[in-house]
Amino acid sequence: MMPSMRTDAVQGTGDPLAGRSAQPALLSVDHVQLGYWGRRDFNVAVADVSFEVEPREKIVLIGPSGCGKSTLLKAIAGYIAPSAGSIRVSGRDTLKPGPDRAVVFQEFDQLFPWRTVLGNVVYPLRVNGAGRADADVRAREHLELTGLGGALDRFPHQLSGGMKQRVAIARALALKPAILLMDEPFGSLDALTRARLQRELNDIVARTQVTVVFVTHSIDEALVVGDRVVVLANAPSSVQEIVDVREVGPPDSTQYSEVRRHLRRLLAAEGEEVDEDAVFI
Ligand SMILES: Nc1ncnc2c1ncn2[C@@H]1O[C@H](COP(=O)(O)OP(=O)(O)OP(=O)(O)O)[C@@H](O)[C@H]1O
Ligand SMILES: [Mg+2]
Repeated sequence: MMPSMRTDAVQGTGDPLAGRSAQPALLSVDHVQLGYWGRRDFNVAVADVSFEVEPREKIVLIGPSGCGKSTLLKAIAGYIAPSAGSIRVSGRDTLKPGPDRAVVFQEFDQLFPWRTVLGNVVYPLRVNGAGRADADVRAREHLELTGLGGALDRFPHQLSGGMKQRVAIARALALKPAILLMDEPFGSLDALTRARLQRELNDIVARTQVTVVFVTHSIDEALVVGDRVVVLANAPSSVQEIVDVREVGPPDSTQYSEVRRHLRRLLAAEGEEVDEDAVFI
């Protein structure tokens, strides 16, 4: 372990929720088990995962393919109930899906193809009770924030992949969620667009002060986007380590390289292919 890096939890060596203040965390994932029913058996995907997220934090979930990252995100969104443990938002459990936890997915087809850019952002606001004028103002405001003020009347098929993801981000943020859940939102983009959107996301998050739970396969993305990185082990998964990356500095700094190497080692130990020269794993 490097002296310069803080780790909050190492599975098996301590309880990551121990010693916290009585005030409930914004998000508390407490010894959660998740899985799916087959014909007869319950297949556990996430065995025992715990972490807490404070307001305005950016938490990244990283781990081998199939370890249950998307499953965890869906459970936080309220689509799947834990089979053991609990997920609490501001102390509340038995979560149903709601606009307080907006989700941005990886796929470019998450927009309504028959609605314009503006219509895509207005629609969920209206469904969630906003009046027509209010929804219109909020949608325009958030599309401006994501750099799409000039594309309000376009339809999804007239947008690039990066623009579609910006619409999805604007749509999620317009709901003013307490937590923005992002499941590899930039995974299908080319490296340059991806890097630009990562920077833009950081700016937007700083301006809106939203709390983010971000899933990625990329160590570099985790380091650019995250405050803390929850490294998951193979399925049925648990937390290997929670690494604080707030102070890592720019990509050419020594500490960045050290933390990056540490994360690569953790993921390599889990059998994830780690290519020495790859920007993204
Ligand atoms: N709807 C489903 N029904 C049954 N099993 C599922 C379902 N969704 C996921 N699984 C299984 O749960 C496990 C975890 O899947 P999940 O999609 O959460 O992994 P992941 O970490 O997001 O992977 P990736 O990095 O490839 O996206 C896998 O074994 C997967 O096959
Ligand atoms: Mg996934």
